[in-house]
Amino acid sequence: MNRRQFVKDVAMAVAAIPVLSWPLTLFADPQPNNKHKNMKTIMIIDGGPRRNMNTAQMLQKVAEGALSVGKEIEVKTVRLYDLDYKGCMSCMACKIKGKASNVCKFKDALTPILEEIAQADGLVMGSPIYFGDVTGQMRTFLERLAFPWLSYNDYSMTAPKKMPVILIETMNGTPERNNSNGYGSMKYCISAALGEPERVVAYNTYQVKDYSRFELAGFSEEMKRQYRDEHWEEDLQKAFDAGKRMAESIG
Ligand SMILES: Cc1cc2nc3c(=O)[nH]c(=O)nc-3n(C[C@H](O)[C@H](O)[C@H](O)COP(=O)(O)O)c2cc1C
Repeated sequence: MNRRQFVKDVAMAVAAIPVLSWPLTLFADPQPNNKHKNMKTIMIIDGGPRRNMNTAQMLQKVAEGALSVGKEIEVKTVRLYDLDYKGCMSCMACKIKGKASNVCKFKDALTPILEEIAQADGLVMGSPIYFGDVTGQMRTFLERLAFPWLSYNDYSMTAPKKMPVILIETMNGTPERNNSNGYGSMKYCISAALGEPERVVAYNTYQVKDYSRFELAGFSEEMKRQYRDEHWEEDLQKAFDAGKRMAESIG
């Protein structure tokens, strides 16, 4: 093999080793923060796929409640289903000796969101319940949010700063009969790192706008409608009030 071919082969071999190419993408500068000095930020993370349906409407009410307080508060809503991102990559970049970070270092579409949350003053997360848990997108997001908080030295959970948190769930189940684990083990991480969250649940939601169009015989549309008429406005009000309380507490 001549010298030129040798150099070319080595260069190609190095490029093929993913761990060596990671640092180029992992450690970009954080986004500049241009917001007004006294302005507080509430981040809303929508973990549901449907725009304007139950979860999105509940989150919208949280935003309206927060803005109703009339303080210098900005509300930023992020729709996870619009983003292309991964769960925790187990790259361990957040736990490197001397460079440990409690914000995820992996670079993708979630990176600026996680950096904004680290600086935020309040965090709201909302998800429909799918098969008893939050959606896959929400869970994937939570891995990236929470793994950097976890110390493998003493198992403490430390976020860059504490902040009030609201957790929204919407589901078909009723208060008496439901299979929701909610945010599951992530709720402990959130409580330990950020503070005890406020939970707001909308039960027995209206899943489709027109039940007659779908194979949904297991549900009585009439009972669904009756439940919605009796509870939905109240659920939206609970979301509004939670947003208002959050804004009042951070102002
Ligand atoms: C894939 C899938 C799985 C679901 N699993 C559950 C469940 O386990 N328990 C439940 O109570 N509701 C379940 N639901 C109903 C949704 O949680 C409920 O309709 C929710 O309010 C939908 O939120 P959205 O209107 O924001 O999309 C499921 C819905 C879908 C599409």
